[in-house]
Amino acid sequence: MKRIVILISGRGSNMQAVAEACAREGWPATVAAVVSNRPQAAGLAWAAERGIATAVVDHTRFETRAAFDAALREAIDAFAPDLLVLAGFMRILGADFTRHYEGRMLNVHPSLLPAFTGLHTHRRAIEAGCKLAGATVHFVTAELDHGPIVAQAVVPVLPGDDEAALAGRVLRQEHRMYPMAVRWFVEGQLRVEGGVVHHVGGAAQLLV
Ligand code: GAR
Repeated sequence: MKRIVILISGRGSNMQAVAEACAREGWPATVAAVVSNRPQAAGLAWAAERGIATAVVDHTRFETRAAFDAALREAIDAFAPDLLVLAGFMRILGADFTRHYEGRMLNVHPSLLPAFTGLHTHRRAIEAGCKLAGATVHFVTAELDHGPIVAQAVVPVLPGDDEAALAGRVLRQEHRMYPMAVRWFVEGQLRVEGGVVHHVGGAAQLLV
């Protein structure tokens, strides 16, 4: 059984999608813990209600980014993860941290990377006049919102869309794509070569 630790900062709807799919589909994996940098993150209560261990490492209590990263790593490693799943985790992680979890840390980002790294992705996509938008699941590397791409989901940008409408349309696809990508990882179906992810079974990546 692969041990998954999920990192959140807020609502945790992607965390729910992953945890529910893991249980429902009988993956060879278990969600060992949910860790948040924000004590008030709504997702913590959801996890605790389902008997999933939770931990908080409050970033406001640390003077430096390095000290926060070290404490976060200690809290995570107490759960001996095989895979770290970032699900709306909104802190930038340092190079030492990302190196420690290299090849075993996934993130979902609400844009079609490498376009629109960083924040306010939906607003920026609308302002740029994009006709398509989406989300990306990728392995995390030291460079923010870069790293080998595991899966992407594409949605239309419709006339009259505001940020909330587009975010909702993208989020629904994140909820389908992220569990699928995490499942591929725990089943050992992903190989990274030269910065590119290959699906061992040769299956096409899904356009959801
Ligand atoms: C999701 O849309 C996710 O892609 C985004 O935050 C939202 C979290 O929602 N992540 C980032 O922007 C990371 N840079 P959730 O807490 O309901 O899963």
